[in-house]
Amino acid sequence: TVLVVDFGAQYAQLIARRVREARVYSEIVPHTMPVEQMLARNPKAIILSGGPASVYADDAPSVDPRLFETGVATFGICYGFQAMAAALGGQVARTGMSEYGRTYVEVDRPGTLLQGVDSGATVWMSHGDSVTRAPGGFDVLAATDGTPVAAFEDPEHGYAGVQWHPEVLHTEHGQAVLERFLYDIAGARPTWTMVNIVEETVEKIRAVAGDKQVICGLSGGVDSAVAAALVQRAVGDKLTCVFVDHGLMREGEAEQVERDYVAATGVDLHVVDAVEQFVSELKGVSDPEEKRKIIGREFIRVFEHAARDIVAKAGAEGDTVEFLVQGTLYPDVVESGGGEGAANIKSHHNVGGLPEDLQFTLIEPLRTLFKDEVRAVGEQLGLPAEIVWRQPFPGPGLAIRIIGSVDHARLEVLRRADAIARAELTAAGLDRDVWQFPVVLLADVHSVGVQGDGRTYGHPIVLRPVSSEDAMTADWSRLPYELIERISTRITNEVGEVNRVVLDVTSKPPGTIEWE
Ligand code: XMP
Repeated sequence: TVLVVDFGAQYAQLIARRVREARVYSEIVPHTMPVEQMLARNPKAIILSGGPASVYADDAPSVDPRLFETGVATFGICYGFQAMAAALGGQVARTGMSEYGRTYVEVDRPGTLLQGVDSGATVWMSHGDSVTRAPGGFDVLAATDGTPVAAFEDPEHGYAGVQWHPEVLHTEHGQAVLERFLYDIAGARPTWTMVNIVEETVEKIRAVAGDKQVICGLSGGVDSAVAAALVQRAVGDKLTCVFVDHGLMREGEAEQVERDYVAATGVDLHVVDAVEQFVSELKGVSDPEEKRKIIGREFIRVFEHAARDIVAKAGAEGDTVEFLVQGTLYPDVVESGGGEGAANIKSHHNVGGLPEDLQFTLIEPLRTLFKDEVRAVGEQLGLPAEIVWRQPFPGPGLAIRIIGSVDHARLEVLRRADAIARAELTAAGLDRDVWQFPVVLLADVHSVGVQGDGRTYGHPIVLRPVSSEDAMTADWSRLPYELIERISTRITNEVGEVNRVVLDVTSKPPGTIEWE
């Protein structure tokens, strides 16, 4: 394990991901964690992340000097670099030369850390203070116009640091520098491979679940699909999956779960056809929040019913269902302050609105993984590409992409338009260039058109392709006009109710990704 000590910057998760890209397992811990607790995790190395503070600020998070008595290899980045310099007897000063963004560093001597960087590199900086003198025993490797000490190392003691951000994409040789530290200075081995992740996770699940029954809800999304497949590897037919078909999925998606996913994994799948129930509950409702509430409530109802059936059936066979699988990811764990990445199984009652008398212990097999790792595990497990690479899709499904009330006919119109947009995006080879591509039906809007010889009075379809990193912010995707044109022509030709296609060119903010 490599511990990434978070000093409150947004970069800690990125650093942890880069370490894993080097195939070394990493976890994020808060800077307030006592040194003993860090050591208890038996770290191979510690990385001190960047942070917003000045080391001279009164409330500056400091590095416990005892950290440097532990003998654990340590790498400082940006603020962590300065904190390390200060703690080991170097000097940090406000030189008046701030550097933000693209900066050129000149390499005086590559040492171990900067091997292969040659004379210099363009890197990403963000700092006001500077290290003006390295601690005793350290070699200074690089400098910039504004910083006499931009990188240093003391490989004998396993120490190194850089003023810049090696983890960001704009930094040249960033990953290479991180790897020199991990492999050559800290002596870490690249053992965090997909094969090992799968094996370790499967073993952990097996140790916890034993021969007890487990249930899992499948949503059609990648997280629950991969979580279930891992649990299935561990416990085989002790796992029962529940898929609630609410009729709000896109074309072919329910079949992908019911047929292709089952074929690939062999899970015991319990499909609940609740299409009529959802559509009738949604009848006449056009308020977005109201739709969400109804769908959430009905979902819990249906899932609970299915869970009771499964529990009762197991009971009749002298068995008990004790575990419920949940697809929680590592960023959720970090953001909710959990941080206990290693413990991928936690006890929990009454989750997701299930009633008190249905008590399960949670199994969260993805609790240590980032999204890209979840996809890689999915591929490793041989899941269908359509599921592994599926774009994020909202739980309430197409219901919040119909502006107006929901009924079968409207769902069908939207489903056909959406299928065309998806097929053309795929044909253009651009699937992985967009984050998400909602297609929205303005069901309460009519506009006049002319098709053939006749006047039409149909509905507009909105195309909403966006690029994003995390859905918190987004930009509209600049898809090629030829592609937009093909989608538009096909939708107006092939989907009867639609006589107009429009492109949403709003970023988020101010718009959200979905229209409701
Ligand atoms: P917005 O529209 O808020 O969406 O920019 C951000 C991301 O969240 C997804 N989304 C949802 N996901 N249940 C979900 O599971 C929901 O009710 C929901 N609403 C939005 C949306 O698709 C985008 O990825």
